[in-house]
Amino acid sequence: MKVEAITESHFGAKVTGVNLNTLNDAQWRDIEAAWYEYAVLVFPGQHIEEAAHIAMGERVGDLEQLVADKKSVPISNRKADGAKVDEASDHFQILKGNEGWHTDSTYMPLSARASILAAQVVPDQGGQTEWADMRAAYDALDQATREQIANLAAYHSLFYSQSKVGHSVNSGASYGLGNQQIPLRPLVKVHPVTGRAALFIGRHAYGIPGMSEEDSEALLSRLVEFACQSPRVFAHTWQPGDLVLWDNRCVLHRARPYDYSLPRIMRHVRVAGDPRTEAGVNA
Ligand code: SIN
Repeated sequence: MKVEAITESHFGAKVTGVNLNTLNDAQWRDIEAAWYEYAVLVFPGQHIEEAAHIAMGERVGDLEQLVADKKSVPISNRKADGAKVDEASDHFQILKGNEGWHTDSTYMPLSARASILAAQVVPDQGGQTEWADMRAAYDALDQATREQIANLAAYHSLFYSQSKVGHSVNSGASYGLGNQQIPLRPLVKVHPVTGRAALFIGRHAYGIPGMSEEDSEALLSRLVEFACQSPRVFAHTWQPGDLVLWDNRCVLHRARPYDYSLPRIMRHVRVAGDPRTEAGVNA
């Protein structure tokens, strides 16, 4: 197995020389060690089977409720029968919303630990995924900002983030959203395995307690803008069969726009956070 850094700052690595469809324990241990170092691992040309995709997620931890039925989740603008997803639907609007920087499931009671996204059909242009290193972003903050945010937290809501892109979520239940409490999450997250501090922000975050709506919005936007820029960002241009594993505890990501009349069919396994470290502080 070969692990090659994608950026100069140990953020993102390309992993080759391993077949994820026949992954064994020793290979997984090497992958896991690389994952903690690089946070995002790109595996080109894997064409992973559904069962192997699920099994890889289960090596990381318990799968989220949405995939606990042992199926990976489509992130696709096509329905199972190949028809286009209706642009007015929640599903399509959330695909569009995913073009904003975010961490998966921060609006759920447990934010996600990991995501494993696999490409099946991709457009020739656009539709890349980008990741930004929130560990490096935290390290690069000036001292005054670090002190300012040290004890701040923000609420995280899908209703909020989608409303900002002009969409009101109709069927929250299908996104695991019941009448749950809106989670409150510190702006700085210490990674439960590596111990590294990272900014924990993104499009679902709003309403910092103790600040006015405007000040909270301005601070959160300033942090995202600062964090998600070179040299802390890289993009992957997908080829069918590629798979990417990323660590939602220290990375933001977003999908890049493309011609939505063309098919983009991805499958996704999402690993739930640990209740000890990924629950809201108000849980
Ligand atoms: C996501 O936001 O979880 C998916 C990213 C993508 O579709 O590129």
